Amino acid sequence: MIIQPQIQGVIARNCHPIGCKAAIDAQIHHAQQQRPTPGLPKNVLVLGASSGFGLASRIALTFGPANASTIGVSFERGISEKGIGSAGWYNNIYVRDAAKQAGRMTSNIVGDAFSEQTRQTVADTIRTQCGGKIDLVVYSLATGIRPNPETGEFWRSSIKPVGQAVDGYSINFENNSLSHLTLPPASEQEIEDTVKVMGGEDWLSWMQFLQHNDLLSEGCRTVAYSYIGPAHTHAIYHNGTLGLAKAHLHQTRHDIDALLSDIHGKADIAVCKALVTKASVFIPSLTPYLLALYRVMKAKGLQEGCIEQMDRLFYQKWNDDEDRDDEGLIRIDDWELQQDVQDEVNAILAEMTPDNFDQVADYTGVLTDFLQLNGFGFPEVDYQAPVSIEQLKALTP
Ligand code: NAI
Repeated sequence: MIIQPQIQGVIARNCHPIGCKAAIDAQIHHAQQQRPTPGLPKNVLVLGASSGFGLASRIALTFGPANASTIGVSFERGISEKGIGSAGWYNNIYVRDAAKQAGRMTSNIVGDAFSEQTRQTVADTIRTQCGGKIDLVVYSLATGIRPNPETGEFWRSSIKPVGQAVDGYSINFENNSLSHLTLPPASEQEIEDTVKVMGGEDWLSWMQFLQHNDLLSEGCRTVAYSYIGPAHTHAIYHNGTLGLAKAHLHQTRHDIDALLSDIHGKADIAVCKALVTKASVFIPSLTPYLLALYRVMKAKGLQEGCIEQMDRLFYQKWNDDEDRDDEGLIRIDDWELQQDVQDEVNAILAEMTPDNFDQVADYTGVLTDFLQLNGFGFPEVDYQAPVSIEQLKALTP
């Protein structure tokens, strides 16, 4: 079968497994170039391990000098009569295969991170694979829904401003267009539900589960990822529903610190740069900013993808307790927020319209990143070559 991209708006309906492998190989290569640094984790649980920052965290720690053993949890689908499966499904498989080849212990757990069953499977795997204890939990889930454990009903997040409507643009990768949109302000219920889905409650409950089951080693650390961004994005992000959820996540760090105090553990928030991922392309109004940001950061030689960010986090920032902001957060959005970068981004945004966005900004770069997340657009992959469905069916995570 020859696989061509099927794009609907900002959603990829399929992926190219051979291209997914190319993406994994490139990230592994990057991780292998890092310099050793003391005090890195050896046994790592990654929640949200199959794409974006979680995948890059896993690759950085497995294939970089940390040489860590990892357990990756994600929610992905394999090949079926409905389709070829998701990129994350194949990412899990290729990371596992490469890790085994490199002599690292590794396991994939594909299931709902919010379910009790997944937690039990994780606990069992920590006992068998990691000698019963882990020393780092990476919390990198990005999702629009979370089940209420008491009622079984779902909380659903809304990506909306708070207080007043916001005007902006949204991108469409299917027909290469930018269109105007007005986002109404969120209701109180939508704010509350978004905090339930993307705030810190589930992070804390994972840490409580692991601690109560004695699965955390002395000095265990945990990190969750956040975004703050520049003034231009505040109405839709930092001061919107997502920002309120992130504020809750930041606050939860202190609850986890208290929870881990007996074992001298510690919770961190790493504030990352804005990047094209499966989750971020859903944020309306953020994509025009990404188009401008990509152009400016590339021109200045400052552009990073998820793997560059995670390599910098673990191999440069991780053990430097002084290198924190006033709130105690690790900042790997520092290059994005440089004044010279933001001045140039603002100049591009001021002139960006639906007619010129592909000339004044880096639409090609953003589209390429989006395609590559799904295994398309790699020059070294022969997309005319048929892919064996039987072989894909034999692949399991
Ligand atoms: P992503 O969509 O690339 O990855 C999300 C991961 O969560 C995937 O592995 C997916 O399988 C997993 N997942 C989702 N629901 C699940 C469930 N119910 N059970 C198990 N696994 C589940 O997302 P991305 O962008 O890497 O986001 C990760 C974190 O980084 C989020 O907290 C996000 O807010 C944060 N972040 C993202 C930025 C960006 O520009 N993309 C910037 C700064 C922070």
